[in-house]
Amino acid sequence: MEKREATFRIKRFNPLKDTKPYYQEFKLTVFKGMTLLEVLQQIKDKIDPTLAFRAFCRSAICGSCSVKVNGFPKLACKTQVITELEKFKTDTLTIEPLDNMEVIRDLIVDWDGALKKMEELKPYLIPDPKVVPQTLEEECKVLPQELKKYDKFTDCILCTSCFSACTAVNIDEKYGGPFQLARLYRFAVDKRDALKGERAKIGYAYNMWNCVRCEKCADVCPKHIAPVDGIMKLRGISIEVGLKDNPGARHVEAFYKSLLESGTLNEVLLPLRTKGIKGIIENLPVGIKMLLKGKAHSPILKPIKEHKSLVKLIKVAMEVE
Ligand code: SF4
Ligand code: SF4
Ligand code: FES
Repeated sequence: MEKREATFRIKRFNPLKDTKPYYQEFKLTVFKGMTLLEVLQQIKDKIDPTLAFRAFCRSAICGSCSVKVNGFPKLACKTQVITELEKFKTDTLTIEPLDNMEVIRDLIVDWDGALKKMEELKPYLIPDPKVVPQTLEEECKVLPQELKKYDKFTDCILCTSCFSACTAVNIDEKYGGPFQLARLYRFAVDKRDALKGERAKIGYAYNMWNCVRCEKCADVCPKHIAPVDGIMKLRGISIEVGLKDNPGARHVEAFYKSLLESGTLNEVLLPLRTKGIKGIIENLPVGIKMLLKGKAHSPILKPIKEHKSLVKLIKVAMEVE
């Protein structure tokens, strides 16, 4: 069996006795197949019983054991230690609590804020009486093609890894959060739900347009969910229900209009269509640089050769969506 020595540099903090966090190193022999959760448990059982971390299922299903491994949120019970050491080409792994949440002790963070936000977004089915039968004798069938729209979002285990990695959560207190907004989308497209498109209005109120599409939530999700995909689709629904008076929605429409007009992006009109005169003023320095370097084009663009086929393709794609 493959074995090697490894050092675990763990961020410690006990608010009852520490004034600030510090790192403590533990040396252990690790073997192929050993998970990070086993490492933490071994440290707690044999070296330092005061080490605090959360874990329940040990099967990557309860979402409780998420911690940062060399800066990346991961489920401790799913993380193979040898694989991580090989990936980082190192003998030392740094283990820290998740970001964007207050540390209660060592690797345990306070989930309350993240879960409260989820509660506020009403991420549960509110049955539509026109679709969902009132008696238990009747069924409400969901067809496979209907389920496909939101199936992957039902796999979320609430590990909060995406919330920890999210740039928008970090800068905007009001932002709904990646897994929370993805859940909102999940119900917005469930035919049994009474609110449907109205849910996009909730996402709008919780600043879903502040998502910067960094895709970090997709990178770190242990269930490969990509909450950002749900958020983008929820934004689309918000435009459909008429919430267009914001720079994000106008930006999307400006792209769309530009493609329909010429088949290419009209970078000169984009700031004007997105933010009006303010957009022009903000982009003036870049515009002047582009002009000087001969990169600026005319605001009236000649359609590309494949323009008509492209427009057809866009319309078909929109219908399929
Ligand atoms: S893509 Fe959006 S939701 Fe996902 S981490 Fe980035 S800002 Fe957050
Ligand atoms: S979307 Fe993925 S990363 Fe985010 S809470 Fe759910 S399972 Fe965890
Ligand atoms: S202990 Fe449940 S997901 Fe890791």
